[in-house]
Amino acid sequence: MRIIGIVEKTGDRLLRRRLCYAGLNAGGKTSFNGMERKLFALSPGGLDSLPGNSAGLIISESELPDEFFLAVGEVLFRSCASSAVLKELKVIRGGFVALSARASLLRPVKSAVLTVSDKGAAGEREDTSGPALAERLEGLGCDVEASALLPDNRQEIEGLLKDWSDNRGMHLILCTGGTGFSPRDVTPEAVEAVAEKLVPGIGEAMRAASLKITPRAVLSRANAAIRGGTLIISLPGSEKAARECFDSVSGALRHGIEILRGWDGECASSPAHKGGN
Ligand code: MTE
Repeated sequence: MRIIGIVEKTGDRLLRRRLCYAGLNAGGKTSFNGMERKLFALSPGGLDSLPGNSAGLIISESELPDEFFLAVGEVLFRSCASSAVLKELKVIRGGFVALSARASLLRPVKSAVLTVSDKGAAGEREDTSGPALAERLEGLGCDVEASALLPDNRQEIEGLLKDWSDNRGMHLILCTGGTGFSPRDVTPEAVEAVAEKLVPGIGEAMRAASLKITPRAVLSRANAAIRGGTLIISLPGSEKAARECFDSVSGALRHGIEILRGWDGECASSPAHKGGN
């Protein structure tokens, strides 16, 4: 799939561009070549419906789903409002988009982040790890639909993991904290208790990568498991450790979730995507 047109409509005038810069202005609104503009993804037949004072990326795909992330190199957009032919785009990660660039439609991964910390839950420590993981998830094409802060209490952790997996239908849950040696650290045990299958490679990869950073990496018992169609990963609690561990496995997560959910790679033409799986 490619970007086969970059257009800008000023009043009634349609201008074709070879390159554009999509970003966010100081007010957090979408900007197109520095001007505040609504930006749309559209299929080749949708050009006539582009409203005035807006911009469009024409994609070589006859039909676009309602809910998607659009990745063009490092640039990332999320669909935010849709008509049949026009899908408005929100900029997640800005940058240059060139005519003919390769593009991919990514199915949004429904995600949740759980911070496990006695001090955090008691309001004695600010949680920076949960928000840092949430930001990283968004950059991978995930919708972070829930987040929570719980004390190191196994029952509460297990209850929430079950609720997010079974009732909320999350595709991916990240837990941060409680993976170490303190008597109160029980997150890996909670993950294992709700597991239908264990995914040892994720913990192994996190520790292998982390050992290149600190010998203390071996002190994390971080693990991962599958429950139904949900991948659950526990990560260490400090923001730095959580970021480092997540970055060491993040490149494989989308593919794993695609297999787990029975999706078939890029989503645009996938019938499963239309079913809202
Ligand atoms: N992994 C990475 N990548 N970077 C780190 O700084 N810290 C370690 C380890 N894993 C660390 C890391 C330390 S010091 C501890 S005690 C364990 O994670 C457990 O952390 P937790 O109890 O906060 O889950």
